[in-house]
Amino acid sequence: MLNTGSSISRRGFGSILAAGLLATGLAACSNSDTGGDGGKSGDGKIVLGFSQVGAESGWRTANTTSIKESAAEAGFELKFDDAQQKQENQIKAIRNYIQQKVDVIAFSPVVESGWDTVLKEAKDAGIPVILTDRSVDSADKSLYKTFIGSDFVKEGRLAGEWLVEQKKSATGPVNIVELQGTTGSAPANDRKKGFAEAIGTNPNLKIIASQSGDFTRAGGKQVMEQFLKANPKIDVLFAHNDDMGLGALEAITAAGKVPGKDITIITVDAVKDGMQALADGKFNFIAECSPLLGPQLMDLVKKVHAGEEVAPRIETEETTFTQEQAKEALPNRKY
Ligand code: AHR
Repeated sequence: MLNTGSSISRRGFGSILAAGLLATGLAACSNSDTGGDGGKSGDGKIVLGFSQVGAESGWRTANTTSIKESAAEAGFELKFDDAQQKQENQIKAIRNYIQQKVDVIAFSPVVESGWDTVLKEAKDAGIPVILTDRSVDSADKSLYKTFIGSDFVKEGRLAGEWLVEQKKSATGPVNIVELQGTTGSAPANDRKKGFAEAIGTNPNLKIIASQSGDFTRAGGKQVMEQFLKANPKIDVLFAHNDDMGLGALEAITAAGKVPGKDITIITVDAVKDGMQALADGKFNFIAECSPLLGPQLMDLVKKVHAGEEVAPRIETEETTFTQEQAKEALPNRKY
């Protein structure tokens, strides 16, 4: 920690300069603790390099906490980098980890495509890679050891099936707007696909507008404002995550409509704020996506580091929530 106030006044110019340089260095590294030139820990700990997507949502914050806490509990040295939702930052972080010769690399790819080259570099360097949360579309499955995360198509399908059941007696068109996640990301592609498949069974259910809100509250609010201006009759909102749904609530209320009543709202994730909106009757249904991947990931890191075989795909267990179920689950919700 940097000293401030009276302790600085007792120091000479040299120490103040050193503190300044340290502060500049810390600011420059604020998104990353990949630092140090060597990836091998001196004390024999397993060194894990992890590249995170960013901090775009409540889900992501809970996921980062789970990974940091589990790495500490497992006794690993964690080098963590926040890519701020940019693929080029993730590629840079992975290349840093390769250069530092870390023991294992794990990352949650912001988008699905464009990973083959850097994954090949890791493979050639003999560093095993684990995909967490989101997958890649590489045809060569030998470029990574395993993928641990949710079935995003299933989440979209569960959201769509609930809606089909709710609207089964509708006699006219049900107008749906969709807030997609980050363009090109696996959850946006897959949730869209699963939802479209499910609602395709009822010709009354129509997606009249679909656009990315980048998984953020600000994005959800802004795009929902546009949807409301352009479409006088919106019956349903399907948001690919809670945060965009929460942002959309503000736009819906500002437009003089009652969320959860005038517009049925379905989201994905089930983070605390989303569950609160569901329990309060502002959301109508949530398909869960669990961010608590840390403990399982650390287990996999240990195994691949020891050269053990691991299953190529490990799927997270998840459920769905209605308003009543959210009221029950909320007091014990951890994130
Ligand atoms: O990849 C998981 C998704 O990413 C979550 O649903 C969303 O909230 C996050 O930003």
